[in-house]
Amino acid sequence: MDFLSMAKARYSVRKYKDTPVEAEKLQKILEAGRIAPTATNAQPQKVLVLQSKEALEKAKDAARFYDAPVLLVVCADKETAWKRKYDGMNSYQIDASIVTDHMMLQATELGLGTLWICWFKEEVLREAFDLPENIVPVNLLAVGYADCEPASPERHAELRKPLDETVKFL
Ligand SMILES: Cc1cc2nc3c(=O)[nH]c(=O)nc-3n(C[C@H](O)[C@H](O)[C@H](O)COP(=O)(O)O)c2cc1C
Repeated sequence: MDFLSMAKARYSVRKYKDTPVEAEKLQKILEAGRIAPTATNAQPQKVLVLQSKEALEKAKDAARFYDAPVLLVVCADKETAWKRKYDGMNSYQIDASIVTDHMMLQATELGLGTLWICWFKEEVLREAFDLPENIVPVNLLAVGYADCEPASPERHAELRKPLDETVKFL
């Protein structure tokens, strides 16, 4: 499948099968995150892979992830991430999001469902997983086999704004 077709076929999965994610597939997803570009190649990401019953149970107090068998907590080190000198803008959230997106699309290519989650309680994650102050959880990515009807790849015709609303040629 070409890239655009795959991107159109991806959808947010909010119901997962019990089926575990194969170790080789998980490794490939993590590799896609590893090779993602980051500002100045600083690679500030720290990815927690939650898949044990105990770890997933702890995360339940922080976010709704629909019993996905794997939850990736994509964090970034705000101290080592690139900071734009003239105004101090810190790229850690951008970097963590590129890593998340790479992993999400790799998972899609492997036939897995995903859900990107930002509605989470940071403090609960900090405490549960003993995160130091400089490590900030930015995104959660639920991964597993979908147990629902796939959303139509055609849905973007209605559910996304047309290009002329979001793009300006100058
Ligand atoms: C930055 C970001 C944060 C999101 N946070 C949540 C979330 O906390 N909970 C949730 O159920 N979906 C969340 N989503 C999923 C979006 O709601 C979803 O991607 C969007 O509605 C488009 O639907 P689609 O993914 O099926 O194409 C998030 C997506 C993004 C990109």
